Amino acid sequence: MMRTIFALLAVAASASATVLWDGRFNAYTTSADFNQWSWSNQVGTYQTYIYGNLHGETASSWLTLGSTYKNPATTAEKQGIKIKINSTSTWNGGPMLRTEILPQTTNSLTGHLYFHVSLQIPTVNPPDPAYEHQIVFWESHVADIKYGQLTGQNGVADTLQVITGGKSVWSVTPAKGTWYNFILETGSPGGLWVSTGSAPLTKVYTGSLGGSGGTAWHVGALRLPLNGVTQQITETDFYYSGIYVEDSGPTTQP
Ligand SMILES: *[C@@H]1O[C@H](CO)[C@@H](O)[C@H](O)[C@H]1NC(C)=O
Repeated sequence: MMRTIFALLAVAASASATVLWDGRFNAYTTSADFNQWSWSNQVGTYQTYIYGNLHGETASSWLTLGSTYKNPATTAEKQGIKIKINSTSTWNGGPMLRTEILPQTTNSLTGHLYFHVSLQIPTVNPPDPAYEHQIVFWESHVADIKYGQLTGQNGVADTLQVITGGKSVWSVTPAKGTWYNFILETGSPGGLWVSTGSAPLTKVYTGSLGGSGGTAWHVGALRLPLNGVTQQITETDFYYSGIYVEDSGPTTQP
């Protein structure tokens, strides 16, 4: 009897998982839709204010939507996004090269939540492993997904890793063209879930990610200068899909 009740409770719990913010790109027709967003017109599901604009570029100069940019295993979305940086990706006068998108939502996205994101280091225009790229992170940098040689370190060049509390909790030499699926579990107990391709995500790390989430969650490319110098680069791309936040579960299918 008790077992039946617990089983029913478990079913009820998973059935009631709520998507608090849906960053899959179903509501977008073309990347030009990103250009509608501004601080005074906060439309859509993303804030799009971090991109190189010294030469009058728009968000859609750097963001491209398309079915080829999504994990083919994901069924709940029609398209993913290609996020580009190049040598003119200077934002706000800084030395970093940046193109990032952030949740546009009235939900605070804080608590014991599951932040889903899948990403690919593409075979075409892949990032230069000599540079540190911060590719998913909260503004407070409590937990970051990074690619490349970390500033001030040696021997971790062609590495995709998740860093929290100053230490790497998961890392691989990424296969270019492979989809890596992540769930960043905020709050307590917290942790990290990972899989590749169409495989269900499994928990690879249990522990606090050092924060309780929040909407200052950056998805995109931030390339740090090397030795203080922003060097010339050609086009560099990252692909993302399956971006959403749910309050329980988590859903382990990419
Ligand atoms: C960098 O990309 C922007 C936006 O797509 C484009 O306008 C610019 O011409 C590119 N710069 C170079 C040097 O390729």
